[in-house]
Amino acid sequence: MPHQLAFATHNIHKLQEVAAKIGDTISLLSLNDLDFHKDIPETGATFKENASIKSHAVAEACQINCFADDSGLEVEALNGEPGVYSARYAGEPADSEANMDKLLQQLKGVANRNARFKTVISLLWNGQEYFFEGVAEGTIRQVRSGAKGFGYDPVFEPAGYHITFAEMTMEEKNAISHRAKAMEKLVAFLQGRAV
Ligand code: IMP
Repeated sequence: MPHQLAFATHNIHKLQEVAAKIGDTISLLSLNDLDFHKDIPETGATFKENASIKSHAVAEACQINCFADDSGLEVEALNGEPGVYSARYAGEPADSEANMDKLLQQLKGVANRNARFKTVISLLWNGQEYFFEGVAEGTIRQVRSGAKGFGYDPVFEPAGYHITFAEMTMEEKNAISHRAKAMEKLVAFLQGRAV
């Protein structure tokens, strides 16, 4: 009987990405599988706090080992903004085009374009909490380029490349993304325990 582990997400793409890496010693359940449809308010000031709020909400409601992730973009010249407000930087409802417009406007004439995507995962495993972090360093372009991906991908050029995340295939992005790096650390941890 494989260990059961919940991923506190409704995003099927994220779930499949982890499921593909995790192997069959763990059976991964989504919030839909658990019939969990409550909105979890992300009131934390950091990615770590938000990830922790989500994993605790699901683990407590469903009495199951669980992990949650929280991600966003931190721009050096903007003191780490938009950070935890990445999804709703230009206001509600969340709108990626408006968010990129606002970001490019804020950086108009600014020479320092350094930025990083960050993901933090909170895992609640047998009553203990563990954190895993992944970072993708890069720069913010002057204008958008590319149509793949989501969010800020068209304006983010990862370090060491001359294309944006939105010009990469999913496989290329998944090899270097903040989310993939955090997920790899989580999977390595689980493979050491769930046997
Ligand atoms: P989430 O916590 O993974 O839902 O990410 C929150 C927000 O950060 C998203 O709505 C995007 O605006 C931004 N974001 C996170 N990861 C990425 C990425 O890989 N590419 C582009 N934008 C991202």
